[in-house]
Amino acid sequence: MNENDYTIRYERPEDYRTVENLVRESFWNVYRPGCSEHYVIHVLRDDPAFVPELDFVMEKDGQLIGQNMFMKTIIEADDGRTVPVLTMGPIGIAPDWKRQGYGKRLLDFCLEKARDMGFGAVLFEGNIGFYSHCGFDYARKFGIRYHDLPEGADDSFFLCRELIPGYLSGVTGVYQTPRGYYVNDEDVETFDKAFPPKVKQKLPGQIFD
Ligand SMILES: CC(C)(COP(=O)(O)OP(=O)(O)OC[C@H]1O[C@@H](n2cnc3c(N)ncnc32)[C@H](O)[C@@H]1OP(=O)(O)O)[C@@H](O)C(=O)NCCC(=O)NCCS
Repeated sequence: MNENDYTIRYERPEDYRTVENLVRESFWNVYRPGCSEHYVIHVLRDDPAFVPELDFVMEKDGQLIGQNMFMKTIIEADDGRTVPVLTMGPIGIAPDWKRQGYGKRLLDFCLEKARDMGFGAVLFEGNIGFYSHCGFDYARKFGIRYHDLPEGADDSFFLCRELIPGYLSGVTGVYQTPRGYYVNDEDVETFDKAFPPKVKQKLPGQIFD
């Protein structure tokens, strides 16, 4: 990869199905047999919390190779305040282009745009191995807890990055995942039938059945 071999631009309606297929290819059998993320993005684009100004795709040689999207959500602070924040994803890079630096480039770009829009922090579930390269740390270090997680449970999946330094200073509280991310398995199955057949496999490293 060199600096100039890709472009990042807004997703357009005519990209939707290509992007859904890209996300399906990117997530397939990674976290579970098959995946639901292509349906999740399909639903989230129509959600009131969706941020169209942060809906980006990455293009290389005329092909879409990556995408990312953001949603508005809140932290319910222990002192009664409601603190607006962003959450993110799915983010996906096409299988042939993973682990070559494109995901980091895309995410760094999106985070800069989010900061320019005035958003103060981004929180979501992810693998610190990748997201630490883009400035994320464990959300617990910022005093933010993940909703519905029993005390003492592993929260190392829950990550945070301040876009405005100090935005979360003096805030402790509970982060809420936007409702739009919760999809029904049957709806995923129905949606998936419109895509080319793919084999679901149970593989080591998956975190859901
Ligand atoms: C996760 C994903 C977006 C990362 O994009 P990418 O282009 O593959 O990652 P990059 O090449 O930019 O990686 C940047 C750094 O993060 C590390 N990294 C990337 N993916 C990683 C992973 N899954 N686990 C641990 N570290 C990872 C890389 O080693 C790299 O570090 P290095 O330069 O020191 O080697 C991409 O692999 C993907 O689409 N995966 C499948 C879908 C997915 O898991 N999405 C995220 C859901 S939370």
